[in-house]
Amino acid sequence: MKMYRCRICGETYLGSEAPSHCPFCGAHRESMIAPEEYPAGINDVHLTESERADLEAAVELERSNTRFYLGMAERRDNDTLRSTYKRLARVEAEHCSLFCKLLKIDKPADIAIPGETTGTWEGDIAESLRRETKASALYAEFMARTTSARLAEVFGAVSIVETDHIALDGVAKGYV
Ligand SMILES: [Fe+2]
Ligand SMILES: [Fe+2]
Repeated sequence: MKMYRCRICGETYLGSEAPSHCPFCGAHRESMIAPEEYPAGINDVHLTESERADLEAAVELERSNTRFYLGMAERRDNDTLRSTYKRLARVEAEHCSLFCKLLKIDKPADIAIPGETTGTWEGDIAESLRRETKASALYAEFMARTTSARLAEVFGAVSIVETDHIALDGVAKGYV
């Protein structure tokens, strides 16, 4: 058994080898490091006004997406899709926590309350695709304009995770 720590979300993973994707935030294997290599104060970033605004937009986006996926996970007519989108809700909630840590604020109070969905799996998967496409592009934009190496690392990694979620929606369509 080995210990790994995710440079992006800071969570610890226990296993015989590093996972291909962090099970908490979805960051790719290259972000999994030995715990002793995890830098203390990694999220102590001095934020500019523009970086603060971008992080606040990121918190709002992840809050909304978490609640949307919790709403999808309330439906009981397709256990595979229910479980898949419950997992996605947890990943987006982890992103929200990470952005809140960087802002040094508490998590939104309503993040665990299921939100409204379109009412059908087809409609919800199309809505998920729209949300993930928007998130991936937005974080790429935030990465391009920050001067902080830490924020560039975080926005870059999370943008890739949201792109992975676009691919996941494609797979999910096969289970409707
Ligand atoms: Fe992670
Ligand atoms: Fe996502």
